[in-house]
Amino acid sequence: MYPKIKKSVGSGTLLIFIFLYCQSSDTVNQAKVYSPDRQIKVIFQLKDGAPLYQVHYDDRIIIKPSKMGFILREAAPLNSDFKIVQQQESSFDETWTQPWGEVKDIRNHYNELRIHLTDQQDKTRQLNITFRVFDDGVAFRSEFPEQEYLKDLQIMDEQTEFAMADDQQVWWIPTYRKDRYEYLFTQSPISQIDTVHTPLTIETADGLYLCIHEAALTDYAAMTLIGEDDFRLRCDLVPWSDGVKVKATTPFQTPWRTIQIAETPGGLITSYLILNLNESNKLGDVSWVKPAKYVGIWWGMHLGTYTWESGPIHGATTANAKRYIDFAADNGFDAVLIEGWNTGWDGDWIQNGRLFNFTQPHPDFDIAEVSRYAASKGIEIIGHHETAADIGNYEKQMEAAFQFYKNYGIDAIKTGYVGDNVFSGMGTTEWHHGQYMVRHYRKVIEKAAEYKIMLDVHEPIKDTGERRTYPNMMSREGARGQEWNAWDPAGGNPVDYLTILPFTRMLAGPMDYTPGIFDLEFKQAGRPNNRVHGTLAKELAIYVVLYSPLQMAADLVENYQNQPAFQFVKDVPVDWEETRVLHGKIGDYITVVRKERQSSDWYLGSITDENPRELETALSFLPAGKKYLAEIYADAAETDWKSNPRAIDIRKLLVDQNTRYRIRLAAGGGQAVRLRPATEEELTTMNSYAE
Ligand code: NOJ
Repeated sequence: MYPKIKKSVGSGTLLIFIFLYCQSSDTVNQAKVYSPDRQIKVIFQLKDGAPLYQVHYDDRIIIKPSKMGFILREAAPLNSDFKIVQQQESSFDETWTQPWGEVKDIRNHYNELRIHLTDQQDKTRQLNITFRVFDDGVAFRSEFPEQEYLKDLQIMDEQTEFAMADDQQVWWIPTYRKDRYEYLFTQSPISQIDTVHTPLTIETADGLYLCIHEAALTDYAAMTLIGEDDFRLRCDLVPWSDGVKVKATTPFQTPWRTIQIAETPGGLITSYLILNLNESNKLGDVSWVKPAKYVGIWWGMHLGTYTWESGPIHGATTANAKRYIDFAADNGFDAVLIEGWNTGWDGDWIQNGRLFNFTQPHPDFDIAEVSRYAASKGIEIIGHHETAADIGNYEKQMEAAFQFYKNYGIDAIKTGYVGDNVFSGMGTTEWHHGQYMVRHYRKVIEKAAEYKIMLDVHEPIKDTGERRTYPNMMSREGARGQEWNAWDPAGGNPVDYLTILPFTRMLAGPMDYTPGIFDLEFKQAGRPNNRVHGTLAKELAIYVVLYSPLQMAADLVENYQNQPAFQFVKDVPVDWEETRVLHGKIGDYITVVRKERQSSDWYLGSITDENPRELETALSFLPAGKKYLAEIYADAAETDWKSNPRAIDIRKLLVDQNTRYRIRLAAGGGQAVRLRPATEEELTTMNSYAE
């Protein structure tokens, strides 16, 4: 019998079964592990001493036998000649609570297989491979135990492969380019890709949806994937400037390599496997970490109506900051972001990150007065550290910079790493996604946590679930955000862009997309080719569709004056108890509903690409026997994203669990709905929804 341990963990229950056995290499060269529901099977085997794994879903092969292993500098490769010395199997089942998030309670339920390998060199080396198989996918990682003949090592290549069954459809962005993750997604067969970032979303010929990514990237190079002609996706680690991929000392482990599996595209969105693979909260009481809705001195700089640098249209002046604080206080916002407040922006700041000073405000920005004023109105300031990727300069000032903000009661910082290259503190030029930067981003999270500071990272390393361990790591960019609409020479994010993002970039974690542009065509900005490629109702829907615990109302605050649709931006919460995806087709449309944590309200967001459509849904997520008032912000009959994007139809109607609701979306459109329990009066005065 397996020893069985059962104990209570927080609100959830933890069950662990452990089964240990040892067998000699002559008899064992294969092992299997199933998901708790037995739909997914992983087979590990040694073929002539080389490790291979494969993944099955029911009777389908998801991943064909695929290699694992490492090429090391000045040491024999660690990829063959192995024998299995021990296998351990265990199960785990726990429900844990997110301090904030897109969902409150998450079940972490898996079966684990841990294989202990040794190679058969004279000076024997050890490598363990651990698989975790969940109902929603598979993860594995390599562990290098402390050992005599492997201490300091330099990994020149990780040979992990994902051998796909055939030439499946993938949605991808390219790697090793100057704009980091800020590229439009291409849909193509695997055979047409070169080197791509993860998360990589795949649609199989028989209608399954997969996502290959990684979890717990803490001190390693980011994994990118190379597509081979035979549909193998091969791990390609982003190198240091000296060509080494990873520098490490045993004991250490790689990040988890993850394969999420779902029967619908939406199933990938509600899979929390990446979070489950991260360690639990290390910070203890995180009541100081608070999701927030914010406005900011920001969009004007992107439109060119304000500047970050000093001069006649400097955005971050004391007077302007007070105007934004007043607006935030009058409209129920939590915070104001202020960019361009410090010195270093004058001149070509992208090339001169070394000039940024993080403790010296511009003379026309009185930080003491601004923070005093904000506090008097109950508004938080979100500070800003643009580094222009000069890490040497930033790291030298980091401690003082955090302390400086803390002195003024500032508890949240947006960081930025604009620049084609990273200038390291060692005089080298590094990639944004190599081990050097993974370490830097991590250092910033830890340092911020020490100061009880929340982070919103732009030009970040991709999200691999760090927010579970460090809940102060709240949101990040890591894709083309709203700002591209302001200045992209090609005009902005295309009309179908936001119907791809939820199924690709967003699978990694929250994104600070910065929705809420009401002046969609910004004609006054003198950029005739730029605009938002969608309707006003779509801008509202994004607050529900794209999850972020920090959500901005990104437009100039004057553009919200006398706009009835602004009520939705004021109402929509940033912290959720539940999330469901009602419709989803990658690149075409998506409908998401979320329940607010602190109330019984539900919110619905639905968006479409260039095609108008009607999507029907049951409102069966509403509680039984209760009438709700649907506050609907819909594209009007005459709305069209190109010719009439601002037309919006706002209605209030009674609905309940049995309502079959039709979501009408204009070309490039969207719909946002707040669903709240109807008052006694509304039950008698409002009309019911009827087709
Ligand atoms: C790029 C960021 O994405 C943007 O939000 C910010 O305003 C600029 N960098 C300047 O830091």
